[in-house]
Amino acid sequence: MKREKILIAPSILSADFGRLGNEVKSVEKAGADWIHVDVMDGHFVPNITIGPAVVKSLRNRTTLPLDVHLMISDPWFFLDDFINAGSALITVHSEVCSLSLIKKIKAKLTVNKVRLGISLNPGTPLKKLYKLLDLADLILLMSVNPGFGGQSFMPVVIPKLRALRKIFLRDIEVDGGITDKTAPAVIENGANILVSGSYLFNAKNRAQAIRELKNG
Ligand code: DX5
Ligand code: ZN
Repeated sequence: MKREKILIAPSILSADFGRLGNEVKSVEKAGADWIHVDVMDGHFVPNITIGPAVVKSLRNRTTLPLDVHLMISDPWFFLDDFINAGSALITVHSEVCSLSLIKKIKAKLTVNKVRLGISLNPGTPLKKLYKLLDLADLILLMSVNPGFGGQSFMPVVIPKLRALRKIFLRDIEVDGGITDKTAPAVIENGANILVSGSYLFNAKNRAQAIRELKNG
């Protein structure tokens, strides 16, 4: 079976925030393809992380695309800020978006040449996406309940991933608990972008860890 090119998007949630610019440079040098930025608002998830100002600073520190994952209740309110901060792709959660809101978000992102990702929590059924698929450049399947790095991969995402790959030909990203042990099944079942936080940032050799993830 011909495999797609696998992209690795390190989640900076597990980076040392005190030296974030250097951390991003380090994973860029180690062979990362995108930088995954986890934005949390304390409402949609029980944690608070970073906002558009940090995305804007990172834009000046790396040439890699910034893959911004909005785990927030009101993505429309903050959309302009994340567009202007230099996001290449903005992912919103299906749990907080109606079809009409997704259409509005898509229209604004298109004008600004930003790609749209739509995310699904582990407990949200795939059918929630059916009407949204045509609008998405990427689907992000969560393989942990969002909010924190370092959780264990939930295998319940695998049948969902396999079913999604049959009906969606564009980018599929899987996020949560990705390690050298869980990556092979994720790749085998149709994901072409892997987010990795704790596994990658804690690795002694980040370049080797990225190669291992890519090789599945
Ligand atoms: C979880 C975040 C993930 C997470 C991944 O809410 O969306 O991006 O940080 O971290 P690991 O790879 O440690 O599960
Ligand atoms: Zn994420």
